[in-house]
Amino acid sequence: MNFSEAQVRYAQLVEQIRRHDHAYYVRAQPTISDREYDRLYHELLDLEKQFPALITPDSPSQRVSGQPLKEFKQVQHRLPMLSLDNTYSQEEVRDFVNRVQKLLPNEKLEWIVDPKVDGVAINLRYENGVFTCGSTRGDGTTGDDITANLKTIRSIPARLRHGTAGLDAGKASVLASPDSGQLFESQSSRERSPSLLEVRGEAYLTKAGFEKLNAERRSAGEEEFANPRNAAAGSLKQLDPRIVAKRPLDIVVYGLGLVEGAAQMPQQHDQMLAWLKSFGFKTPDRTWHCRSAEELVAAIDELDRVRRSFAYETDGAVIKLNSFAQREVAGFTSKAPRWSIAYKYAAEQAETLLKGITVQVGRTGALTPVAELEPVFLAGSTISRATLHNEDYIRQKDIRIGDTVKIEKAGEVIPAVVDVVLTKRTGKEATFRFPTTCPECSSKVARAPGIVEGDEGVVWRCLNSDCPAQVRGRIEHWCARGAMDIEGGGEVLVRQLVQIGLVSDVADLYRLKLPEVAGLERMGEKSARNFLEGVAASKERDLWRLLFGLGILHVGAGVAKALGRGFPTFDDVLAASVDQLTDCEDVGEVIAQSVVQWHGDPRNRKLVERLRAAGLNFNSQLYQPKAKAGPLAGRTFVLTGTLPKLTREEATAKIEAAGGKVSGSVSKKTDYVVAGTEAGSKLDKAQKLGVKIIDEAELLRLCADQN
Ligand code: IVH
Repeated sequence: MNFSEAQVRYAQLVEQIRRHDHAYYVRAQPTISDREYDRLYHELLDLEKQFPALITPDSPSQRVSGQPLKEFKQVQHRLPMLSLDNTYSQEEVRDFVNRVQKLLPNEKLEWIVDPKVDGVAINLRYENGVFTCGSTRGDGTTGDDITANLKTIRSIPARLRHGTAGLDAGKASVLASPDSGQLFESQSSRERSPSLLEVRGEAYLTKAGFEKLNAERRSAGEEEFANPRNAAAGSLKQLDPRIVAKRPLDIVVYGLGLVEGAAQMPQQHDQMLAWLKSFGFKTPDRTWHCRSAEELVAAIDELDRVRRSFAYETDGAVIKLNSFAQREVAGFTSKAPRWSIAYKYAAEQAETLLKGITVQVGRTGALTPVAELEPVFLAGSTISRATLHNEDYIRQKDIRIGDTVKIEKAGEVIPAVVDVVLTKRTGKEATFRFPTTCPECSSKVARAPGIVEGDEGVVWRCLNSDCPAQVRGRIEHWCARGAMDIEGGGEVLVRQLVQIGLVSDVADLYRLKLPEVAGLERMGEKSARNFLEGVAASKERDLWRLLFGLGILHVGAGVAKALGRGFPTFDDVLAASVDQLTDCEDVGEVIAQSVVQWHGDPRNRKLVERLRAAGLNFNSQLYQPKAKAGPLAGRTFVLTGTLPKLTREEATAKIEAAGGKVSGSVSKKTDYVVAGTEAGSKLDKAQKLGVKIIDEAELLRLCADQN
């Protein structure tokens, strides 16, 4: 086969595989046998091997890219990704409808009810029909670039199918929404892809996939995921797409971000879903059209009855106005749209026997009572432990060992004991005595103020910072996904490392040798190697992860990022005064005090030096220097040609010292072009754009000008 023949065959194969992928992963109606599919796929791989020039980034073979990433890049959302307000009762749904009606007096309102998928919110960006970037919601403004991971999800089209809404008979009912007046008109024309299409949805792990994944983790001695949502989030945070490809992830889409250059835009939610479906996306299993609060309540009830049959976990119903024009009038608050609300289903409850109470010691020394339960099935998983919060909670609810208790689990929340079933008391139950020393190290305990606001004085804490439970907790926290993200650094391994004295703080991790780790229980050479590679890779992590990983009181991931934006290096953070720290957005007095106090402890200072010696990155990629004060603050300069006295570097330094910025190219945003002899095209451009042109002498005057 020559190259041009190969090209033709290749195009056919790509098209066929895409069609079969869509049938299998999106419509769940396979059109060929697995065997036949494999044959096509292998033919494609063979062709790519023979003619590597054929491979395009959106080829079906490129779903799993070979290289793990060091860290996710950050993506700025062009339109913010907002959240929704929650409601829990029919009453609140009625209030919501009345509220929106007041914003849109005399208008007929039509509502859509969607299942609220309990997964991870994502934004998918398509440029000229090709999937180019996928990101997490993050803080709503900036998220992680998880493109490589999302590419492994086969129901995310690598290339948009052409908008042919309506060709599929199944869509007709959605398109012809009752008295919407007109049908959505992209039915006949095969539409060109919009130049930019951002699609919003939820990535999730199927309920079945979640059970399977946890079973595998259990038998590998790894920590299990608490629920499908955490498992999906954890999977998408993996830096190695090859691992992600093995997780049964999927998506449902329900919204748009920025769209540019579309031949026509949907005007309503139902049209939009049909539009997205015609591009090849998976949309919600069912949606309801409603015209009143009563119909909404009925739809919410019906969804509650059918949602257990969906492949994904749902935790509520999302109510939204159908009409985009009406949405625009209703508008947004700073956090959420006024035209939509989430209805959350009540947490599921179960009754079971409280067999005993144990007390766990966390990384901050907090003693948490844990209920040991007769295993019971609740909301998708078997529960044998639940939190009892603290001593006062047990006393207030008069919870006794041997009681039948009610436990509750809501979405991502850890199961909790919520009540005692008093009618089942026999009199044989025993009251629980809270330990007066640390159950782990027998040290003194005290009711000390906590990390979380409001827990002052309720939580008992172990006062020995060398308590093995605290040591383990600190190291596990350092390794956690949200912190330094060291795969394999879970409970089982850390417990052994601490027990035999190989590790007593996080800096010790960087001195571990392969034979030491490989010799541990349930380890073996391969997992030991993987773990140590993870440890080595963590040296490159961005500063905020390190700051968060250290577990400094009050420094959560959000605060750590704020510090990373405000300071270029770890040393700058540590050298900063309380005042300088509070100059950072989101950093208040209490946090600043805590950072300063942390650094005041000689043991922590020593830890910093050991981390430095181990070669950890202390620089912040998030750092955003503030526009400086000075006579040139906010001004942008471009240098061109040779200046009489100053070198280019000297001129740049002068401008920056006076608060200005130097840019490499001339645009409308340029304030001054500083021209010397033999100035080139930049001077021409400045003249064309009417940018002010000055010489060196004028520049020096501006720099010196204090007004
Ligand atoms: S619409 C402006 N529809 O729930 C936000 N969201 O609690 C409009 N979610 O951030 C979102 N299923 O991540 C919408 N059918 C659905 C949804 C859904 C799940 C998530 C979404 C959102 C969160 C709000």
